[in-house]
Formats: sequence, C-alpha cells, structure tokens
Amino acid sequence: SASALIDAHGRTIRYLRISVTDRCDLRCRYCMSETMQFLPRERLMSVDEIATLAECFIARGVHKIRLSGGEPLMRGDTVALAERLGSRLGNGLDELTMTTNATRLARHAGALAAAGIRRINVSLDSRDPDTFRHVTRTGDLARVLEGIEAARAAGIAIKINMVALKGLNEHEIAPMLAWCGEQGFDLSLIETMPLGVIDEDRTDRFLPLPQVFEDLSARFSLVRDAFRTAGPARYWQLAGTPTRLGLISPLTANFCDGCNRVRLTTEGLLYLCLGQDAHVDLRAALRDGGPPAVDAAIEAAMARKPAAHDFRIAPGAAPAVARHMSVTGG
Ligand code: GTP
Ligand code: 5AD
Ligand code: SF4
Repeated sequence: SASALIDAHGRTIRYLRISVTDRCDLRCRYCMSETMQFLPRERLMSVDEIATLAECFIARGVHKIRLSGGEPLMRGDTVALAERLGSRLGNGLDELTMTTNATRLARHAGALAAAGIRRINVSLDSRDPDTFRHVTRTGDLARVLEGIEAARAAGIAIKINMVALKGLNEHEIAPMLAWCGEQGFDLSLIETMPLGVIDEDRTDRFLPLPQVFEDLSARFSLVRDAFRTAGPARYWQLAGTPTRLGLISPLTANFCDGCNRVRLTTEGLLYLCLGQDAHVDLRAALRDGGPPAVDAAIEAAMARKPAAHDFRIAPGAAPAVARHMSVTGG
C-alpha cells in the first residue's frame, strides 16, 4: 500500500480537518467581524469532491477526520458527507468527528450518530444567556443546550470548547468546569488566536492559560493525564469525575513539534498550518488529473509544511494570518 505522509520536519500526518463551509449562523467576536463576508455558494466543493479528496488522504494513512466550518451543519448535505465518510470507519478510518456550535445539532444528532460519529466538540463560551448572546452576537443559548442534549441522547460523547476571554467569560471558567464534571462532558480551554481582522483588538481579550490553570488548580483537584487525542490539547483529569480538562495553549506552550494535521477548505485548498499561509489547490489537481494528481499534490505539499505557527498577540499588531478561523475550521 502507499506510504504514510511524512513532512519535511519528520512529522507523520494522520489527521485531516475538513471545513465544509465558511458560513456560520453565529458571529463570535473573537472569530469574525459583525459584517463578515462569506464565499458565494457556488465556490463550495460538492460532497462528491470532498469525499474524493478525503479518500486520497485515507489512502495515505490519515485515520482521523474532523468536519468543521464555519458551522458544518449550515450545509444541508453535511450529514450525507458524514454518512459517506462513516462507511470507512473500521476500514481505514479510526475516527470521524465534528466541531459544531450545536445550533442545528438537535435536528441532526441521531443521523450523525448513525453515521458513526461517537464524539463531538461543541463550542460554548458561556452558559449565561446574555453573555452567550454578547459573545456570539446572535446566539440563542437555549438552542445550543438542546443540541447538546440531543447529542447526548444519541450516545455521542461531548467535549465543550471554550475560548478563554479576558473580561468576557473569565469568571465562568471555573463554573463551566464544575458543570462539565456534573454532566460528564470534557472541557477544552483555548487561547484566542490571531486569525483574520475582527472588530476588536484581541490583546484586550487574551487570557494566558497558565494563569487560568493556576486558578483552577486552587479550586479543583486536577490530575495530569497522559491521555492524548490526535489534537493539540494537554489533559488533566477532574478527580472523582470522568471529565478531562484540556488546555490548548498555542501562544503560551507551543505544540507544533507534535503536529500531525492538515486542513482542507471548502474551496479545496489544503492549508498546511493553521498559523501560516502555505497551501496547495487540491480541487484544481482533482479537476486536472483525478485522484493520482491529488496524491502527487499532497505528497509535494508535505515538503512545504511549516515547522510552526508564529502567532503573537501584541497591542495593535495585525493578525498573523489574514484568513479567518472559519476558512480552515480551526
Ligand atoms: P480533539 O480531537 O478533541 O482533540 O479535537 P481538536 O482539539 O483537534 O479539535 P477542535 O476542532 O475541537 O479544536 C479545538 C481548538 O484547537 C480550536 O481552537 C482549534 O483551532 C485548535 N487547534 C486544533 N488544531 C490546531 C493546530 O494544529 N494548531 C493550533 N494553533 N490550534 C489548533
Ligand atoms: N482563536 C481561538 N479559537 C477560535 N475558535 C474560533 N476562532 C478562534 C480564534 N480566533 C474556536 C471556536 C471553535 C474552534 C474550532 O475554534 O470556538 O470551538
Ligand atoms: Fe501544526 Fe501549524 Fe497547528 Fe503548529 S500551528 S500545531 S504547525 S497546524
């Protein structure tokens, strides 16, 4: 069989993140501006194109695929894509998962579980309805909680993603961890990253996670846990519960030497690093020469994967990369 994908820095790539749409029904302040412009729909790849590209990665040893966005469930055919990719579980794929804001999860949780999704990451930056509305500008917390309940009822394990924001949800981090402990959810805390221009200066909201962790350690019994997913988080176990606390600290604890992932956009561009512009056009390769041309393009791209991001949060600084998180799905 074909050889695994190894980049110029000796890292093996086994995790593909697919952004199925850049659109989102929320307008989270740390992610996009209020007047965010999205791609015209005709630029998005079809389910067929996405699945064909995904197959090229599975053939080269990618065993984890995450569907993201934007909000992946903004597309009516995302469930069909999940069903198609899900047919490879146990036969090339070890895990198919999704990162979602959960506003449309209630409707689709059953079908996603049936497609083979066992675990889902839900973005939830606040459990206070007013703060949730403020951070997302448009969000209805009750709908998100219904989505989470539906996923639980469908047997899907839940991880809450919370971007730590100074002066916005800072005081809610400890209660969020306590709630996750009660609910049996995992919690990942995330440092805000400088992708794309937003309406605020991210410096004002940046909360270093070492500081947050110090505070949490004083209030909870947290035990370092060697557990790893293919993702970037470092984990602690919340004693007496099944809950794991994950810290995603690109700014204060760089994890790039362990990088195992690449990202496909909804236009078929393969981004080699979340924090760099290096990319190749796989849809063009597909149209020009089918899967063999895609395979050659992926192989060639491995030589171009950057060693690391150079995210920095500094007052007045332009974002490290111009594109928004919603283009590559985080
Ligand atoms: P698990 O499979 O549960 O570990 O998920 P994950 O952390 O890989 O995925 P998720 O979509 O939940 O991402 C959580 C946060 O991690 C998001 O803010 C992502 O942008 C961030 N993240 C994921 N991969 C990378 C990465 O390679 N570099 C950086 N800087 N951030 C990343
Ligand atoms: N920095 C950090 N995390 C972000 N997310 C979106 N934009 C940013 C940003 N600029 C988060 C979302 C979601 C995950 C994919 O990334 O909240 O949980
Ligand atoms: Fe990999 Fe880039 Fe993320 Fe670093 S920032 S872990 S190199 S994708």
